[in-house]
Amino acid sequence: MFDSKVEKLLNEQLIMEIYSANFYLSMSAWFRNKSLDGYANWFYVQYKEEIDHALIFYNFILNAGGQVKLGAIKSPSSEFEGVGDILTKSFEHEKFVTSLIYEINEAALKVKDYKTVQFLDWFIKEQVEEEDRASTNINRFNLFGADPKGLHSLDEEAAARTYAQTPQLALYEPAVV
Ligand SMILES: [Fe+2]
Repeated sequence: MFDSKVEKLLNEQLIMEIYSANFYLSMSAWFRNKSLDGYANWFYVQYKEEIDHALIFYNFILNAGGQVKLGAIKSPSSEFEGVGDILTKSFEHEKFVTSLIYEINEAALKVKDYKTVQFLDWFIKEQVEEEDRASTNINRFNLFGADPKGLHSLDEEAAARTYAQTPQLALYEPAVV
């Protein structure tokens, strides 16, 4: 069972994770159109990870006796000014997501909802990684991206990113009968 505010925030975060997925998929599509297939791959993997995050929230809410309420998911932008613009927007988005996770954590602490505090622990660590990955992308683009050869090798590096299901998801998904 949940305090109503915590339950509301968890549901909002579930929706936000789906929005994040769509935002990154939109970025991936932009890169595909520009034939930057490595970056397209990087953001496609990011999309899949965000879907995992959404499913982790979904399962946690249900496992803990809460109600899932899926609301409207706002449309992500598909207009971007360039590679640097996308990388900056993804970093800004991750910082925003971190602030939302902290907000849920504070609400949970206030009502001594320690199961939610413990649940969020992984997301707090994950956000450190997300922000680090996003800011590294910006730094490397700023260093090498202005030169076509440099951009080509950044794109090749991004092509190497692979998706593996977020291990945390298996902890919350119901066992398959
Ligand atoms: Fe996420």
